[in-house]
Amino acid sequence: VDEVGRDEMPGDSRGERRPSKVAIVGAGAVGSTLAYACLLRGAAREVVLHDLNKTKVEAEALDIAHGIQFTPMGSVRGSDDVAICAGADVVVITAGARQKPGQSRLDLAGATIDIMRTLVPQLVDVAPGAVYIMVANPVDVVTYAGLKISGLPEGQFFGSGTVLDSSRLRYLIARQCGVAVQSVHAYIAGEHGDSELPLWSSAMIGAVPLLQWGPTSDGSLLDEGVRASIASEVKNSAYRIIEGKGATNYAVGLAVVRIIEAVLRDEHRVLSVSSLLDDYLGISDVCMSVPTVVGHDGVGRRLVPVVTETERYGLARSAESIRAVAKQFGF
Ligand code: 2OP
Repeated sequence: VDEVGRDEMPGDSRGERRPSKVAIVGAGAVGSTLAYACLLRGAAREVVLHDLNKTKVEAEALDIAHGIQFTPMGSVRGSDDVAICAGADVVVITAGARQKPGQSRLDLAGATIDIMRTLVPQLVDVAPGAVYIMVANPVDVVTYAGLKISGLPEGQFFGSGTVLDSSRLRYLIARQCGVAVQSVHAYIAGEHGDSELPLWSSAMIGAVPLLQWGPTSDGSLLDEGVRASIASEVKNSAYRIIEGKGATNYAVGLAVVRIIEAVLRDEHRVLSVSSLLDDYLGISDVCMSVPTVVGHDGVGRRLVPVVTETERYGLARSAESIRAVAKQFGF
């Protein structure tokens, strides 16, 4: 069967009964790269992009559509009409204020929450059954606000949180230790932002607890100093990239596709997404990232790893800083 014939076959390679549909809201650097990554990985059969800027959203969709021949299978369309998101299985919200060099994510809260007040009810109207993934920053505050505005069950509305930060962390650990990034199991938890923290005590490299990792053949260590510099590099990654190119888009695009795949394939994968916590290590009523089981219904169980007192305190502090900003905007 040639490529054209394959594209016309009903159902997709995973044998789902109904083609999956992902709606991406916001056709900026993050939204467009995410649409591209979704199609490259064959994550969804149908990808739609929605943005108020008609010219931009149509151009982004067309540019991606011209490459469909070279992707596993799928389609992409763009529109300034929110109706294009109707019946989506997953809605990803990337629309929000843009972070300028020198700004922290929390500086964007007011402008992005204002956008959510109009946008979220429109989306819930056309896609009430979708799983919602918030990506716009400050993602924890905006997830909390968006969840309240939506009126949806808490499991159905969550944020991309620190999935990206955790992959930045794993990348740096892998490089330091000379192992594949896929063999590193380590999480950044808390705010996707300045108060985030690595959960070192529960981190593993293959079968070895990270804190017991000895020097490698070239003498490199993972001692306290190295760990502190890795944590600081993770925290400052976005600032550095924004300084250099104005936005981050590639790694976040891949991280969010991973979350989408966990939902569409009901993978029950453990990801550090941001969701509403209820007495998690004593933390409640805040959206924040912790290792979480993600599947078809959205977020499931939040896993409680072994934590030191310092880590527990760091999580509580991070929760406080997110809550303080949410309160400032009436949530
Ligand atoms: C990032 O961490 C800016 O939140 C965005 O890349």
